[in-house]
Amino acid sequence: MVKICCIGAGYVGGPTMAVIALKCPSVEVAVVDISVARITAWNSDVLPIYEPGLDEVVKQRRGKNLFFSTDVEKHVSEADIIFVSVNTPTKTRGLGAGKAADLTYWESAARMIADVSKSDKIVVEKSTVPVKTAEAIERILTHNSKGIKYQILSNPEFLAEGTAIEDLFNPDRVLIGGRETTEGQEAIKALKAVYAHWVPEERIICTNLWSAELSKLAANAFLAQRISSVNAMSALCEATGADVSQVSHAVGKDTRIGPKFLNASVGFGGSCFQKDILNLVYICECNGLTEVANYWKQVIKVNDYQKNRFVNRIVSSMFNTVSGKKIAVLGFAFKKDTGDTRETPAIDVCNGLLGDNARLNIYDPEVTEDQIKRDLSMKKFDWDHPFHLQPMSPTSTKQVNVVWDAYEAAKDAHGLCIITEWDEFKKLDYKKIFDSMQKPAFVFDGRNIVNAEKLREIGFIVYSIGKPLDPWLKDMPAVA
Ligand code: UDX
Ligand code: ADP
Repeated sequence: MVKICCIGAGYVGGPTMAVIALKCPSVEVAVVDISVARITAWNSDVLPIYEPGLDEVVKQRRGKNLFFSTDVEKHVSEADIIFVSVNTPTKTRGLGAGKAADLTYWESAARMIADVSKSDKIVVEKSTVPVKTAEAIERILTHNSKGIKYQILSNPEFLAEGTAIEDLFNPDRVLIGGRETTEGQEAIKALKAVYAHWVPEERIICTNLWSAELSKLAANAFLAQRISSVNAMSALCEATGADVSQVSHAVGKDTRIGPKFLNASVGFGGSCFQKDILNLVYICECNGLTEVANYWKQVIKVNDYQKNRFVNRIVSSMFNTVSGKKIAVLGFAFKKDTGDTRETPAIDVCNGLLGDNARLNIYDPEVTEDQIKRDLSMKKFDWDHPFHLQPMSPTSTKQVNVVWDAYEAAKDAHGLCIITEWDEFKKLDYKKIFDSMQKPAFVFDGRNIVNAEKLREIGFIVYSIGKPLDPWLKDMPAVA
């Protein structure tokens, strides 16, 4: 029986291994983590991450060929194939600070593999790491090998949160990169055989190591670039009276461009886009490619601009100050159908409003109060460390009130802003909300999910991203 071990029971490792266990009953899968709390949760009825469809998959296989454990060394030493899916934060100090990936967790996992292994292993890089990391890991393993042979593969993950199970069941492609040696090709074949249980052969792409690593960064950079492109257009639409939804629709009808990923928003978030682009930028700079680095940097700058623009719209509409005013924030996760808040635009928007001394009533159906308070008190690059190493919230979040209902959030508020496109926010009784708010009552829709016309009829002043502006907003001071 093939044994697989995955180091890191997070958003990538957990769902991916659960699906491998489901689709390959003949393979034994162990998911290990240093976090006792996380493993306990994976073994309980309340999984540590919210992902539609995940519960059923885990329930079907847990205890049969899917195991969650903190006994990292035992499972690593027994495995034939080891996936490494640990945190890869952005470095906060030293060489490459603010851009390069901090490989502390990866390196410690690699050293542990070298320490405990007694048989040959295939080590699969699953976390996003900069191009040529596999080479560094290979060096650690081979220099500590004690005669054991290691083959390093890069098998980047393309699942998107909120649709992870669907994406894993039916991937557009599976990418496996490996050495071009006979042993390297054998290792690729072994991993390919796992995916071949359910993925059609023509969707499994085999490349060299560096192409696989770079493809992951490139795919995420291209996706993020589409959002920054449409968000840049949204600012121009507001200035000219065009409607960004109409522009996106028209642009997306060109089959060469396609309709997906063209929704203007308050900005993209998530654990991958910004981090991957920063890595790409760093790699370009290290290779002396300043122009290329600057080109990709701009995607992040436009994203920051979009978040700032949103905050500025709120402040300028409300007579240029939100000091002491209560603002309801609907949604904190970086997108709907996940409880993940990593790099969520909600953090920058909330911090922007708190900077102007607003009081916030925050509601998200899946994010806990503890997480929200940690996020609002965390330094920019601290978010991708294991949860138990993240700072506890200090007192700076006194102005923040986390509530468990959208109506509760809106009560007595001067303004309401929508940051995450949760379906339930489309179906709220906005008349009831209007009646409970201070007047004039504002709605700032960062996801373009409400019917602005209907809300205007109720009496709201409405701002939608990239849409023709209310006369009220037009008359307010220009935003940067
Ligand atoms: C992304 C990639 O899609 C996935 O392939 C990769 O493996 C990991 O990174 P994820 O970050 O989970 O996945 O979510 P994604 O759906 O890509 O959304 C990223 C951000 O872009 C979210 O904040 C989302 O709200 C935003 N977005 C997406 C937009 O603002 N507009 C869009 O049209 C699409
Ligand atoms: P991703 O989104 O890439 O899955 P997460 O942060 O959700 O990232 O998960 C990474 C997991 O890796 C965390 O649960 C963390 O505790 C775990 N981890 C980090 N370093 C190690 C290590 N050396 N051994 C085992 N688990 C680790």
